Amino acid sequence: MRKLLMLLGVLALTGTALAQANGPPIWAYPVTARKFPAPDPAQTGRLPGAKRTFTRAGVNDRFNAPDWYPASHPKMPDIVAHGRKPGVFACGYCHLPNGQGRPENASLAGQPAAYIVQQVADMRSGLRKSSTDKMGSINAMLAVAKASNDAEVKIAADYFSRLKYTKWIRVIETDRVPRTIVGDRNMMNVAPGPREPIGKRILELPENLERTEWRDSKSGFIAYVPKGSIARGKALVESGAGAFPCAACHGPDYKGNGAVPALAGRSPAQIVRQLYDFKAGVRNGPGAAMMKPQVANMTDDMRLDIAAYLASLQP
Ligand code: HEC
Ligand code: HEC
Repeated sequence: MRKLLMLLGVLALTGTALAQANGPPIWAYPVTARKFPAPDPAQTGRLPGAKRTFTRAGVNDRFNAPDWYPASHPKMPDIVAHGRKPGVFACGYCHLPNGQGRPENASLAGQPAAYIVQQVADMRSGLRKSSTDKMGSINAMLAVAKASNDAEVKIAADYFSRLKYTKWIRVIETDRVPRTIVGDRNMMNVAPGPREPIGKRILELPENLERTEWRDSKSGFIAYVPKGSIARGKALVESGAGAFPCAACHGPDYKGNGAVPALAGRSPAQIVRQLYDFKAGVRNGPGAAMMKPQVANMTDDMRLDIAAYLASLQP
């Protein structure tokens, strides 16, 4: 490991961080200036298999993670279920009570507790930022990190790291995709109209928009990826995309290793954002030094292929 680290240091010095030609891809960093009409706060929702009901107001309460299926996960600690007023929104509101996460945030289930603690600390100290300051979800996370304290984050990290991340993103290779718009809350949504060419994009869409809008923690996502991207991504991941094979640190099946995060089956939008952010130099926590040589020569196309492959794996 020591030798590997030294080698990486040399690579980091010689690798030029090329400017990223096209800016952050909109499909991985969806933002819109459009304002969406607020739903009727009194409307009541029901979900298949859930005994509880929530109103729209209830499901959008950031200090009370809507827990549709309390029997499907261990009891949430208070910080995960309710957060702390004024500034710490409930972790489970965005990351969901089962930690499965959504494309506009990140899955935390099964990630190493030490990794979760370090990332929030990095966000709090400003070592980890985002390539955009326009995604509301990310800005909210950075604010939560600043308002939270170490003891709270440790409790949340212990909770999420013990949960099992299960497959809930279906990766489909295709030439044509539904038309999409950037919808409310940084979500890519299907728009009316004929299908269109996928081009060089990954579109990660709710399996069921209605259920996702009710923050259903059992209704997952479909990721449409370009034909051939999974095989190209596999080759890149196994060769190391010009540096070390990803398995060297992320584990043989990309399920994480020590404090190094798991990648298998995780959101492709999240993976692309992070690969982009490392290269853009906005992730600078202690662990990021290991990733910088990995991304130094990564192009948009490579990031897309890598994310398609990793997302397609069994977690
Ligand atoms: C308002 C929504 C929101 C809340 C509440 C929230 N997060 Fe996040 N979190 C996000 C988003 C969005 C990201 C993705 C950031 C990015 O892509 O750069 C994220 C990312 C993270 C990451 C990094 C994951 C990774 O794989 O790199 C950790 C760790 C994390 N959150 C922990 C927490 C904890 C602990 C809490 C509760 C104290 C919490 N979050 C509350 C939205 C939220
Ligand atoms: C030398 C060890 C090492 C190698 C090799 C490596 N990684 Fe990483 N990776 C890390 C570490 C450590 C982190 C956590 C970084 C941090 O703390 O900010 C990380 C984080 C990441 C993340 C962010 C995950 C998240 O949820 O935020 C992604 C994505 C990633 N790596 C992908 C890759 C890919 C793809 C490859 C191969 C091309 C690769 N890594 C190779 C060590 C490595």
